[in-house]
Amino acid sequence: VTIGIDVGTSGTKTLAIDESGKILASASSEYPCSHPRPGWSEQDPELWWTATRETLRSVLGAGAFAASDVAGVGLSGQMHGSVFLDGEGRVVRPALLWNDQRTAAECAEIEERAGGREALIRMVANRALTGFTAPKLLWVRKHEPALWEGVRQVLLPKDYIRYRLTGTYATEVSDASGTLLLDVANRRWSRELLEKLDLDPSLLPPCYESPEVSATVSAIGSEATGVPEGVRVVGGGGDQPAGAVGNGIVRQGVVSATMGTSGVVFAHSDHLGFDPQGRLQRGCHAVPGAYHVMGVVLAAGGSLQWFRNELGKAEVAHAKSLGIDPYQVLTAEAALAGPGAEGLFFLPYLTGERSPHFDPDAKGGWIGLTVRHGRPHMIRAVLEGATFAMRDSLELIRDMKVAIQQIRVSGGGARNALWKQIQADIYGADVHTINASEGPAYGAALLAQVGTGGFSTVPEACDAAIMTVESTSVDPQVKAYYDRAYKVYRGLYEHLKGSFR
Ligand code: XUL
Repeated sequence: VTIGIDVGTSGTKTLAIDESGKILASASSEYPCSHPRPGWSEQDPELWWTATRETLRSVLGAGAFAASDVAGVGLSGQMHGSVFLDGEGRVVRPALLWNDQRTAAECAEIEERAGGREALIRMVANRALTGFTAPKLLWVRKHEPALWEGVRQVLLPKDYIRYRLTGTYATEVSDASGTLLLDVANRRWSRELLEKLDLDPSLLPPCYESPEVSATVSAIGSEATGVPEGVRVVGGGGDQPAGAVGNGIVRQGVVSATMGTSGVVFAHSDHLGFDPQGRLQRGCHAVPGAYHVMGVVLAAGGSLQWFRNELGKAEVAHAKSLGIDPYQVLTAEAALAGPGAEGLFFLPYLTGERSPHFDPDAKGGWIGLTVRHGRPHMIRAVLEGATFAMRDSLELIRDMKVAIQQIRVSGGGARNALWKQIQADIYGADVHTINASEGPAYGAALLAQVGTGGFSTVPEACDAAIMTVESTSVDPQVKAYYDRAYKVYRGLYEHLKGSFR
């Protein structure tokens, strides 16, 4: 039995699996996020630890297996967050999270100190994004100098849980890639950039490969959680790479398109590749020796959520009275409009956009409305617009010479037949769903299986547990139509971006 823990932004999820990948027990516990000022986002790491203890106790107490059966633990969590510790391992301020936007000036400073954006991308494979860890360090150094004086260690969220569980400071390459301080190509901290930023390398913990054993549960960790002392804790992975392992995205050619509130396109790549503009996030994969490229659409499912909340109140009430999912009602309405919604487009940039525009000022909207259009077209355009935005990332992945042979869809966009068909036709490839889309905690538990000897490689562990169960085929005629519509979609942002400011 191995355990996977995912320290998320809205809660922590813990699950246990057996050797075949079957889930034996799972539990989750939620907590809030604080926004002390607009654009700021912080969390007290103690909340994560409390939720970890509760969920571990509940999974161990479910009666599905004995604590002594636990061979290993894998950790996963929200990426990029920074936990600041003093010389005694005490947290000195709330952690700054991935969605905190206060660091624009620090991002500019980093690109400048690195010798320009392209030089930075050559060192750490990414451009400076406000959510990343390095700019947060510079922000605290500049704005809270007295506090910074006492900081001796900086950890990522899941690595703080490792510290509480084992007493050891450690991280692994997939999450470390999101700090902007990792020499991703060589899978070790970038001495070069640390020097340019005047950051002491001793602030950062040793960095392992994801399935490698990093530490063992301490007496104190065991007392707090019920996991026996001495149980091995593997490196684990950032939530996106660990989630990809959970979806079996562990071989070249297999790509996932996950539509939650945000949408993520994630590809495994045997080579790091290079894009001088850094239009995708790149990093080490949780598969030793491999890399990942990733594109993030900020409001994918979020666009439909917004429609439901703001313009679908009557449908929500109607669906509730019938006991069905409101999204079903909305997508049934969308199905009344044909592909392309009779020339109506929707830009899904409701909260700005990350890939490929990196434009916090981008805005959303319908374009091309005529009197012939009605709600069905508007909803269909929302589904198509979110999917075109995902295609932007797929196109960039193709540009980076990462072949795409199979697309695995998950999240809300995979629970709906119409949206799956739209995805196949817009991506221009058959889309597949898998048996167990259990997310990052599941991937972390698989990594623990590998690290504790259950399997010798990550792909082997995935093959034993994960299979595709259903596929939706491309309709060549509709695909040809969408290929033309996509060109129009691309042009809309280019034409409009000047008016978003
Ligand atoms: C990845 C990212 C988010 C966080 C939060 O780059 O910002 O997915 O990991 O879950």
